[in-house]
Amino acid sequence: SIYHLRLASTSAKAIPGTAKLGTPWEELGFEFRQTNSHVRVTFKNDEWGEPELVKDPYIDLHIGATALHYGQSCFEGLKAFCHEDGEVYVFRPDENAKRMQSSCRRTMMPELPTEKFLEAIQKVVQDNIEYVPPYGSGGALYIRPLLFGSGPRIGLQPADEYTFLIMVIPVGDYYKGGLSSPVDALIIEDFDRAAPQGVGAVKVAGNYAADLLPNMLSKKKGYPIGLYLDSKTQTVVEEFSTSNFVGIDNSQKKYVTPMSPSVLPSITNKSLMTIAEDEGLAVETRDIPVDELKSFDEVLAVGTAVVVTPIGSITRLDNEGSELRYEFGDKQIGDTTKRLYQKVRAIQNGEEEDKH
Ligand code: COI
Repeated sequence: SIYHLRLASTSAKAIPGTAKLGTPWEELGFEFRQTNSHVRVTFKNDEWGEPELVKDPYIDLHIGATALHYGQSCFEGLKAFCHEDGEVYVFRPDENAKRMQSSCRRTMMPELPTEKFLEAIQKVVQDNIEYVPPYGSGGALYIRPLLFGSGPRIGLQPADEYTFLIMVIPVGDYYKGGLSSPVDALIIEDFDRAAPQGVGAVKVAGNYAADLLPNMLSKKKGYPIGLYLDSKTQTVVEEFSTSNFVGIDNSQKKYVTPMSPSVLPSITNKSLMTIAEDEGLAVETRDIPVDELKSFDEVLAVGTAVVVTPIGSITRLDNEGSELRYEFGDKQIGDTTKRLYQKVRAIQNGEEEDKH
């Protein structure tokens, strides 16, 4: 089920990497930038309409929209890459279509069929092709689909109208420095991310709202990324604020990642697991007790936006202010981290065949 959605970029006026951004393609970071258009599909009278390109970035939204009141809203994140031949490819969009459908089922929203999801991506990427960072820049066109209740309700029940839209933004590294700068993480003690049978395994907007305060507090203490434990026992590693957790044990050649009904199934993590196996690592998806952190040689945060971000340390502060710190890679980027990063980027850039 894994494939690239290929987008031709043959029209003379639309060549990847020709948009004027005022920032070099190599230094984009991860921030909002205005592009030509977004694509919109509306669900009304029990059916989805056709994808339409819209230039205005503002939405005319009913004040009773369920997305605003009751958080009936989900989103996705995927990327388009320019290959050496100038063609643009989207990485595994069918996986995102499926994951969005699971978010819709959990929040009582109509599922957008995969074909329509792909058609909408095709349309919006094609219309913004000059914003796809050029081959070799290290950047990508970030594709952000949203699906939310736009019909009015005041009693707690699902809307009868929905809006699906996709915006696209050229991006570079999510965390400053990318692969070359390991990020320090803080274990979040005072807040939970997801309840065991809650909505942690789907990509609903509220999951990210709940992280804003813990995220800001840990940044203030000097830790750009937070690590959540399971909310029931606070003893098992679950997920970073922005991405999945992966621990590497080099002596035992293991790639370990949490298996939990409250962790978001990352598409990048899924790809990396197959790459890790190809590289001779044993992939283990299971509970990771906090104490096991000391046994990892390398720790990675993995996801669409963060790609493969090395974690330099994980700190746990107790109530008395004492500090327990797990360090990884001795401030260097671990060899396994480097290899996994290079492999997944080579597949995304079309330099290596995507066998899976
Ligand atoms: C992604 O990685 O695409 C996400 O949606 C995570 C978000 C915090 C940027």
